[in-house]
Amino acid sequence: MLHDNYFDYYERLASWKFDEFDIRSESLTDWDLYEILRSLVTRDSQVLDLGTGGGEKVIANYPECAGITATDYSPQMIATANRNLEASGRKDITFRVMDNLKMDVPDEYYDMVVARHTITDARQIHRCLKPGGHLLIRGVDKYDCWELKMIFGGGQGWNDPVPVSITDYENVIRAGFNDVTLVPICERDYFKDREAFKGFLTKVPILEGAPDDALLDEYIARNTVSGFIRLQRWCYGITARK
Ligand SMILES: C[S@@+](CC[C@H](N)C(=O)[O-])C[C@H]1O[C@@H](n2cnc3c(N)ncnc32)[C@H](O)[C@@H]1O
Repeated sequence: MLHDNYFDYYERLASWKFDEFDIRSESLTDWDLYEILRSLVTRDSQVLDLGTGGGEKVIANYPECAGITATDYSPQMIATANRNLEASGRKDITFRVMDNLKMDVPDEYYDMVVARHTITDARQIHRCLKPGGHLLIRGVDKYDCWELKMIFGGGQGWNDPVPVSITDYENVIRAGFNDVTLVPICERDYFKDREAFKGFLTKVPILEGAPDDALLDEYIARNTVSGFIRLQRWCYGITARK
């Protein structure tokens, strides 16, 4: 397997959990991945979750069904996910290592494929879905945390010629999916203090590396609301059917 620049980063993190930063989130739009998922998954469904991280979201939010296969290219993430699974007591989830760009799953097997905040190949997903099966994508868009990126002069997606939401949307249509819908998701995250905010920015790949203190203070001065530091998030959701 050829690894991208992020592989070592995810291996070091080995989980995708942010409880330590005590983030309060407010949604300005109403597209909810888990609500849609729960409305479509039945007791008989076979579900595939791509780029599952430490399995935190699958274990907590996915309804019980015939089977959930949850995959990630990072063996460390999958090791964490298996520990989380054991602690949860759930029996319907299997975690395993797989590259989303080299999927080795059976053709026409899944009723639902979910990809939350990870890379996808729409053609490979299309192949593994049953006719009529559903695809749900939630991604982080180019303009996520844009004011912060403007102050820092760069960050994730800064140089993308086209927002990733549009690239994903077009790829899903090209792969042959029907009823393809792209929806913007706007949220505000609030942090209780500078330490939590800086810790979060140091952990996630929104900026490159740990943030510069002077620029961070400039952002905080402009974005402190009732004592909380506000971060404007911009994601997108895609629903589609084979
Ligand atoms: C931002 S985390 C999201 C984790 C989880 N889906 C969630 O929403 O909490 C992205 C995950 O995608 C995985 N990932 C990135 N590129 C991948 C690839 N090519 N194949 C499989 N997993 C990948 C990373 O290892 C990481 O666990």
